[in-house]
Amino acid sequence: MDKLKILIAASEVVPFAKSGGLADVVGALPKALRALGHDVRVIMPRYYVIDIEKYKLKSLEGALGVPMGIMGEEWARVYEGVLPGCDVPIYFIDHEGFFGRKGLYEENGFSFIDNDNRFIFFSRAVMQLAKKLHFHPDVIHANDWHTATIPIMLNTHYAYDSDFAYTGSLLSIHNLQHQGRFYKGAMSILDVGWEHFNEDEIEEYNGINFLKGGIVHADAICTVSQKYADEIRTWEFGWGLEELINSYSYKLSGILNGVDYDEWNPSSDSYIVKTYDLNDLSGKEECKSALQRTFNLPMRCDVPVIGFVGRLVEQKGIGLLHSAIWHLMHMDIQIVLLGMGEKWAESFFSDIAGKYPEKFSCYIGYRDDLAHQIEAGADLFLMPSLFEPCGLNQIYSLAYGTIPIVRATGGLDDTIENYSSEHRSGTGFKFYDATPEALMGTVSWAVDTWYHDKGGFDQLRRNGMKQRFDWEVAARGYVALYHTIINGRHSHRHQE
Ligand code: ADP
Ligand code: GLC
Repeated sequence: MDKLKILIAASEVVPFAKSGGLADVVGALPKALRALGHDVRVIMPRYYVIDIEKYKLKSLEGALGVPMGIMGEEWARVYEGVLPGCDVPIYFIDHEGFFGRKGLYEENGFSFIDNDNRFIFFSRAVMQLAKKLHFHPDVIHANDWHTATIPIMLNTHYAYDSDFAYTGSLLSIHNLQHQGRFYKGAMSILDVGWEHFNEDEIEEYNGINFLKGGIVHADAICTVSQKYADEIRTWEFGWGLEELINSYSYKLSGILNGVDYDEWNPSSDSYIVKTYDLNDLSGKEECKSALQRTFNLPMRCDVPVIGFVGRLVEQKGIGLLHSAIWHLMHMDIQIVLLGMGEKWAESFFSDIAGKYPEKFSCYIGYRDDLAHQIEAGADLFLMPSLFEPCGLNQIYSLAYGTIPIVRATGGLDDTIENYSSEHRSGTGFKFYDATPEALMGTVSWAVDTWYHDKGGFDQLRRNGMKQRFDWEVAARGYVALYHTIINGRHSHRHQE
């Protein structure tokens, strides 16, 4: 297979900066593409939380000029490093005015008011840096709204630039809820010409919609599971873009995320007290006691522990959990929750922890070590999401022998097979309706299985631990898609 030149642009990448699964994906996919022999480069913003010394980043010589429409030219410094554990170069766009802040997109619950300018700047800097490096990519792979203007730029500013003569674009949608909707003034920064400000391209309700523009202009679009690719074509999951997506369905596909088993592996995880594997699960019991100790819960091995890790936002089904919690607190279980997000949820779950100290404990904040310890120490893992493009924690749970309880939506539905006590098959417990009753019923079923069908529970655990979601499989899917894009571009150019 030909060696491809692939440029991946994203707003967050593990281990440098992360707010959710996008960072996991962009930290892992390039490694897998590299292992298949491709020339991959990654570009992300240099937020000021990224420590230059710690990651031994080197400053590239000379400043990078980034045209910003009526703002004129802005200048960036560029740092270079490598993705840990491989030789994939990663570049950081440094601009104090745009990225010299603590948060990635917001601070104290308020989005930065200049997020439009920040990410137009970043996206344009990606294009300018490719030129400066003389890296002429076969494909630029953009991710979510933050970099969705790249396909637009490729078709406008750089349409006749010989450096990008054969460059195609892919836009990955990790979450359709967030589209980058802004006041139309951003058009004069994006500077692609007002003729593109129309309802078939970038305009929406007299404002600008980055993701919409990206969907229209990208050579291909993909999402992170097949089920979500189907769902976003419907009213329920389309967030207003379902019609547009339907009209571009010929260029839409779904590729399921993988797991970075170097990071998420109970047999080598340095965050957990005792490692374990399928042949010897005794370490998992120690992890459970340690988890109970860390979270100040009674250290009982005769009670199931249910874990929850995630952003405390509506998407994750916290409204359902909120309604179901009183009922759940009557069951003989323990719940450990790690998350941050909406203020009402943070204070609600903290109150529950105060009311039920024997049964419910939470850590409001962001902690990688605790996320790993919950995966290892819990018996069950709850993901009652209203929608879930892919979801990673349920797949991590499988690897850790922690049985997922999920709502059958998006990637949750694609990755978890429902338990059948009759056949002792499946990998988790699923519910379908987005109601507190369905959630409660399924948690009861799971807890009941834990208490009264130890054999069945153990089989489920083993079934899950045997599953593999290797990035190599996903990477091969992306390579096939990149080839489709490249072939399309070449024949398109021939016709011109
Ligand atoms: P999303 O990207 O929608 O947030 P995913 O399931 O794809 O959901 O990925 C979430 C990632 O973020 C997982 O790696 C999870 O462990 C991590 N995560 C979420 N919240 C926290 C938190 N409060 N502390 C540590 N890790 C977290
Ligand atoms: C998004 C989605 C999540 C997905 C992640 C990585 O944040 O909400 O479901 O796993 O992106 O693709």
